[in-house]
Amino acid sequence: MAKHFLDGTELSPDDLAAILDRAAELKAARAAGEGVSNLLGGRTVALVFERPSTRTRMSSEIAVHELGGHPMVLSGDAMQLSRGESIRDTALVMGRMAHAIGIRTGAHANVEGLAEYSGVPVFNLLSEAHHPCQALADLLTLRERFGELAGLRLAYVGDGNNVTASLMILGAMAGVTVAVATPDGYAPKPEAVELADSVATSGGGVELTVDPEQASAEADAVYTDVWVSMGDEDSARRKLDLEPYQLNAKLMSVAKPAAIALHCLPAHVGEEITEEALYGEQSAIFDQAENRLHVQKALLEHLLG
Ligand code: CP
Ligand code: NVA
Repeated sequence: MAKHFLDGTELSPDDLAAILDRAAELKAARAAGEGVSNLLGGRTVALVFERPSTRTRMSSEIAVHELGGHPMVLSGDAMQLSRGESIRDTALVMGRMAHAIGIRTGAHANVEGLAEYSGVPVFNLLSEAHHPCQALADLLTLRERFGELAGLRLAYVGDGNNVTASLMILGAMAGVTVAVATPDGYAPKPEAVELADSVATSGGGVELTVDPEQASAEADAVYTDVWVSMGDEDSARRKLDLEPYQLNAKLMSVAKPAAIALHCLPAHVGEEITEEALYGEQSAIFDQAENRLHVQKALLEHLLG
């Protein structure tokens, strides 16, 4: 059976810890001018992008390359998928050629369909429901700053979206308390909260509130994401509803003094985050972006090693 990484629950807590350990090792090796291997031995990893991407595209393509594989980037609008070919047929064909498939898409069912029919490892490069590769990088960033993950308090403020879901699931699995503050109508999907509860370990779990200061109080990190995700309707109402959830100095002041600010990027300065929070001393946001590469390599090793 091929291993997959669709919503993160495919990992055991030990798998997660091993991937983060390995990512840290690969990061150190790369900084020392090493970190390139032939683990993939020329195998092809197809990377399907039905939506725009900077970090995910770069980290995945470079990761496959540095592990000795061939990254085949396929843009959704250049595939027959865009003309109505089914995910099932796409999966049946791709699985006969590629050795693994990453996909960024809208409906999470597309990711699941590829996994069901391709017969090769499938990993989720973002769907409307989940963004688990991002959460791996977020946890690596927290681990670098604080050492142990278990027992940390991570606040997430803003729209309860795909990034929130993956943070809750993989955070809870790592023993982190993920305190989520969203306005009414923007709470994370109950299915995602249930998944997080089902994999939580050693004190990890999810707290839900509408109060951003309550979530952020004494937090080790405060995280936010865009108010309008790919596929969302950009309305004045949304922005008005989410305005009180901005990641700014006032919100950081209720967190622990050593707390870090996190954002998966791309950011909209003046909306969900201030310039000060994005570039200030407490920001770990660009480490977080770089860490996408190191966790992507460790994930590929886990799926294909
Ligand atoms: N954080 C993230 O997934 O960024 P991209 O959309 O640029 O890939
Ligand atoms: N929630 C955002 C994340 C982008 C990386 C989106 O889905 O557009």
